[in-house]
Amino acid sequence: MDYFVIEGGRRLEGEIKVFAAKNAILPMMAAAILADGEVVLRNVPDIADVRTMSEVLIRLGAEVEFDRRTHSLFINASRISFFEAPYDLVRRMRASFLVLGPLLAKYGKARVSQPGGCAIGARPVDQHIRGFQRLGARITDEEGYTIAEADRLRGTVVYFDRPSHTGTENIMMAAVLADGTTEIVNASQEPEVVDLANMLNAMGAKIYGAGTSRIVIEGVSSLGGIDYTPLGDRLEAGTYLFGVMSTGGKVKVTGVEPKNLCIALFKMSEMGAKITTGADFIELETDTFPKPVNIVTAPFPGFPTDLQPMAMAVLTRAAGVSVVWERIFENRFIHVMELIRLGAQISISGDKATIIGTRELKGAKIMASDIRGGAGLLIAGLSAKGKTTLRRVYHIDRGYERIEERFGSLGAHIKRLSY
Ligand code: EPU
Repeated sequence: MDYFVIEGGRRLEGEIKVFAAKNAILPMMAAAILADGEVVLRNVPDIADVRTMSEVLIRLGAEVEFDRRTHSLFINASRISFFEAPYDLVRRMRASFLVLGPLLAKYGKARVSQPGGCAIGARPVDQHIRGFQRLGARITDEEGYTIAEADRLRGTVVYFDRPSHTGTENIMMAAVLADGTTEIVNASQEPEVVDLANMLNAMGAKIYGAGTSRIVIEGVSSLGGIDYTPLGDRLEAGTYLFGVMSTGGKVKVTGVEPKNLCIALFKMSEMGAKITTGADFIELETDTFPKPVNIVTAPFPGFPTDLQPMAMAVLTRAAGVSVVWERIFENRFIHVMELIRLGAQISISGDKATIIGTRELKGAKIMASDIRGGAGLLIAGLSAKGKTTLRRVYHIDRGYERIEERFGSLGAHIKRLSY
């Protein structure tokens, strides 16, 4: 198993280009099931979650190839012969549940393992299921699997009690080949949902209103293949930017649209950073201790829950008291106990964490337990005095390609070792 040894206290300087967004690539891979031709995705990072989704598609009978040199992913899922996503893959990555919508839309049947809970929360899929039922699917449960069947899906109104990111994507992919028009009410407005709609439209779908809370989908009879470059990863970009916030320095992150980071950038400015943006880059400079700020996580365009652990890592060193209110996932504070091992002063009450800034974190042995929490701990290690050993980095590898080399190119000292 791999672990990182981080020598903290080095300023970050330089320029780095982000890969395409993991959370756009995964639904787009599932969308390949809908296509009658090849789907090619560009600028794809070599990460564990892409490998897991590739395995899911291969089990269904698709051909999947990844070219590591060009970071291109080639998928031909136009003639699949199995309709089951098994437990051993879905338990590794919840996003595997995204194959349900496309399988149901194109083949009228799917058997997908229920994802179960994960470290950051219970994360039920009840809203996905209700949406499929409203579209006319018959849903039954059998030994931990969701079985969905439909002769033909029919357009209708589907609503979410609260906006669900993958829920909106799953319903959108089911509705593109349905008879008639579907309206999604209280849809997720996350940029990755918009990019999936853009890709589906380029394949021949008719989706309107993505990026607002009301998405309208006119069913079409078939979709073609496509060669597509998904949007740049705002979460990877945010990870580097909070990294600089924690160490001080000057870094330009390219390949990402600043508007997709919106409130996160305002919070970095409030913390004292100087930020310059262009159409597809963000440059951040900071050399002072961060100022304390309050953060509330919320669906887009609110502050992203996925950047909460990184922001918290920075706030542990702020000159004053900050409050972080986590409103998306009920258990997304697992990194807090590890930050405390580094010397942070944090207390939790329900869904709020109060952070009393301390001037210096000190290196210690800590452990990742989810992708983003792990990245937050890595950032804390970058600013801590001395040596931090971060274990279970396989969580981080699910969402970031060789994060130690990427931060290394900006001047960080992180060694990957195995035991
Ligand atoms: N929810 C339900 N029922 C549902 C669906 C969601 O109660 O049927 C709840 C969830 O439990 C949660 C809230 O609604 O409390 C929002 O969850 P959402 O469905 O939006 O999350 P998701 O689609 O499962 C995606 C990302 C996550 C990201 C969240 C929030 C992908 C593959 N995953 O998850 O990304 O944190 O949206 O923005 O897109 C990550 O990349 O590390 C990651 C966890």
